[in-house]
This record gives sequence, C-alpha cells and structure tokens, in this order.
Amino acid sequence: MGSIDHDRFIEEQVQEIVRAVGAGKAINALSGGVDSSVVTVLGHRALKDRLVTYFIDNALMREGEPERVVKDFGKMGIPVERVDARKEFLEALRGLTDPEEKRQAITDTFYAKVFSRLVAESGARFLLHGTILTDIEETVAGIKRQHNILAQVGIDPEKEYGYQVLEPLKTLRKDGVREVARRLGLPPTITERIPFPGPALATRIVGEVTEERLQTVRRATTIVEDALQGTAAFQYFAVLLQDRATGIREGRREFGQIIVIRCIESTDARIAAMTELPWAILHGMTEEILKIPGVNRVLYDLTPKPPATVEYI
Ligand code: XMP
Repeated sequence: MGSIDHDRFIEEQVQEIVRAVGAGKAINALSGGVDSSVVTVLGHRALKDRLVTYFIDNALMREGEPERVVKDFGKMGIPVERVDARKEFLEALRGLTDPEEKRQAITDTFYAKVFSRLVAESGARFLLHGTILTDIEETVAGIKRQHNILAQVGIDPEKEYGYQVLEPLKTLRKDGVREVARRLGLPPTITERIPFPGPALATRIVGEVTEERLQTVRRATTIVEDALQGTAAFQYFAVLLQDRATGIREGRREFGQIIVIRCIESTDARIAAMTELPWAILHGMTEEILKIPGVNRVLYDLTPKPPATVEYI
C-alpha cells in the first residue's frame, strides 16, 4: 500500500461512514489492537457520540487487557463500555476441539448473540468492523475462516442479524493500517502493537478451551510478550498443545502440558519466517514458563508460513 495517500484515505473513510450511517447510530467493538483502534478513531471522527464503542470481554483476552484498553481510550476522550460476555463464550466453546468449529462458535457468539443484543439495546443499525484485506483473501481462498468475515462467505448480516457491517479498512494490509494509525496520532503502544487475532487466546489453544487451559496459556503469553517486546519481531506468543509429555516434578512422574513459543518475522503475515532468538532469551522464557502449574515442556517453533499458518487453529 506504499503508494496510497493515507491522509486522503482517512478523509474518504470518515466521509463514507457519515454517508452510510446518515443520522443513525453505530456500534463497534474495540479489542485494543491496531485494526479496531483505527476503526474506533475513524468512527468517532465521523459520528462523535453516535458511535458507541464496546470492549467485549470474551474470556479469551490477555492479562490486564480489558482495563488497559478502557484506560488508554479514556485518555483520548473516547469512552469505551466494557461488556462482560465471558460466560457466553466459554459456554459456546465447551466440548469443542475442531479448529473451525471453535472459530465458528466464536463468530456466532460475537455476531448472532453479543452484537445483535448490543445493536438492539443501543438502537444502532450499523456495526463498524476492522476487517483488513488479508483476512478477506485468506478466507476466500479457504485457508482459514477469519472470525470477522461475513459477506465474503455469503452471510448477509442485515438479514441474519439485523444490522449492516461497515469495513473501512478492507482495502489495507497490516502495514497500511499501522501507517493510518500513525497519521491519526495514535500512540506507539497501539500503532506498533503486535497483531492479536480476534478469536484471541482460543487460536493458541489446541483442543478444548476451558478456563483452566486459558489461565495456562494466558500466563505463558505474558511471559513471552515481556521477554520479546524488545525485539523487533512481527509477532510472538505462546501456544498450549493438546498432547502431553512425561516429565518429573519433585521426584514424581508427571504427565504434563506442553507450551510452544512462536516468534516470527513478517511484514503483513501473508508469509513469515521464524526469528533467530538468542539462546539466553529462549532459556529465560523456558524457566519462567516451567513455573506454570502442570507445564513440563517448552518448545520453540521453527516453522515458516507457509506451510504453517501463524496461529495454531
Ligand atoms: P494465520 O494464522 O492465518 O495468521 O497465518 C495471519 C495473521 O492474522 C492473525 N489472525 C487473525 N486475526 N481474526 C483476526 O483478526 C482471526 O480470526 C485471525 N486468525 C489469524 C494472526 O494473528 C496473524 O497475525
């Protein structure tokens, strides 16, 4: 997207939101990532208090995320309402192990349940969404069902859920969105934030998503993010596998859990190479992760994309 005029893009998208929503109201969900942050700022420029921004706590977020997002946007004068939907999401995910079924359950819970309810309560008819070009391409190519793709897979949200979806970023890739974010004056903690997928920690749990397994991967994620935030890597995170492995803890055999560390180099996540991390950093993370109850192995993923995808489900 090197050749686009980002200031003009911002102006055009603001105008387009004004035109589409008219005198009506819209809502949007802010996760704190760069895509939804940009949509939030564009939407507020266009609609002011006719846009209601929600942070949906789906039980799948990282440590401290809900509080951080509400605080950061509050400082920018954008109020964010926290919606506690943890039970609904955990319920929808219970017993599911198939990756696409898990994604489907999250999509259904977001769109058919939570957004539909928020739209009805707020009187809005529009949902602003941070879909980007890569999400659309990979979904259309059948690689992965991104949770935020509807029209592209033949779903008419107005007919099915009672609201229209506006996607102001659908022509941009990640690098383009970051540039727009900088032009909008968002702080580096947002513009340079590593990508975090909509289905959140569920994409980093192979097998069933339970509160206990979320706790394990959430702790490991914090350890990995703290250790690697000083690197210029594109994305890094922890994954909890479904397999177990034999180990010894306090002199006893333990059939323990396995955490994978993934750290990649990329510009837009379409292709990725693994980062050559210093041994000392790998060691440090491993030591910390092994303190998590029940975890007795830590692996480093050396696989590029393709053939792997970035996430594990
Ligand atoms: P994959 O795993 O498809 O990831 O190679 C490519 C990039 O997209 C992110 N990702 C998602 N983002 N909704 C999102 O908003 C999703 O369903 C989703 N799945 C993957 C992933 O973190 C990586 O940056």
